[in-house]
Amino acid sequence: MTETNRAARVASTGWSPKQYLKFADHRLRPAIELLHRVPIESPETIYDLGCGTGDVTRLIAARWPSATVCGLDNSLEMLPKVEVEPGGIEWIEADIECWTPAKKPELIYSNAALQWLPDHQQLLPRLAGLLSAGGCLAIQMPLSWAAISHRLMRETLVDCGIPGRILGTDELRAAAAQNWVADAETCFDLLDGCAENLDIWETEYLQVLSGTDPVFEWVQGTGLRPILNALDDDELNIFVPTYKKRLREAYPVRSNGQTLYPFRRLFVVLTV
Ligand SMILES: C[S@@+](CC[C@H](N)C(=O)[O-])C[C@H]1O[C@@H](n2cnc3c(N)ncnc32)[C@H](O)[C@@H]1O
Repeated sequence: MTETNRAARVASTGWSPKQYLKFADHRLRPAIELLHRVPIESPETIYDLGCGTGDVTRLIAARWPSATVCGLDNSLEMLPKVEVEPGGIEWIEADIECWTPAKKPELIYSNAALQWLPDHQQLLPRLAGLLSAGGCLAIQMPLSWAAISHRLMRETLVDCGIPGRILGTDELRAAAAQNWVADAETCFDLLDGCAENLDIWETEYLQVLSGTDPVFEWVQGTGLRPILNALDDDELNIFVPTYKKRLREAYPVRSNGQTLYPFRRLFVVLTV
């Protein structure tokens, strides 16, 4: 196994649908904005890669009711518990990294999932190559690696407020340090050669969050999961309060009781 793949494996998420869906409205908005940009009229076969709980897959199926729609995910915690929904969606447990469709689809859609996979240099052109002629690849990934919240996450592992104390294993810290998502220009260079049309953009959402430690609650549903799963109880007792305090300082509660959490996302829509 390469170092890259080992780092990806260490980043085990152990998903919690309940935690992930705490901010369902903020998480759904980019998915819908991506869906609106898909320029395909009547696809026969659609895959939603990393479909999670399937909420977005159901919107996809509603937009193209006559299409065969498959939601694919490698987390049994996240996947809906039925194999086939009344609406006709098929849920498939599989790993995107080694997935190939039985029949070339007209649309491969993926919202907030591919950032968990390594080696986009190989992955993204491979996905584009799986499309039928005229097909569309539509992807949204968070650009969270450079966010203050994620920098503090990495820093707290190596500087947890106790001099000389480092948390987690070398592998965990290496995995947390990895940024799988390339910037928009790199993505353009990567995909231009395999696209008829290529549309790439970034959006920064000024997310208004409520409640106690809302940024911690947000990352606890996604990017923080590999760290929480890997630290032992003693380490968690140090990491969690230190990280929460740093987040409160970086994202102060406003006078109206709400917290602003700016969040950047990268969108790619290509047709072949
Ligand atoms: C942040 S959730 C997004 C879920 C859904 N797309 C949405 O927008 O609500 C990321 C999903 O990607 C899935 N995922 C991550 N790596 C995967 C892989 N290698 N193969 C399949 N699914 C994967 C996770 O299990 C998780 O359900």
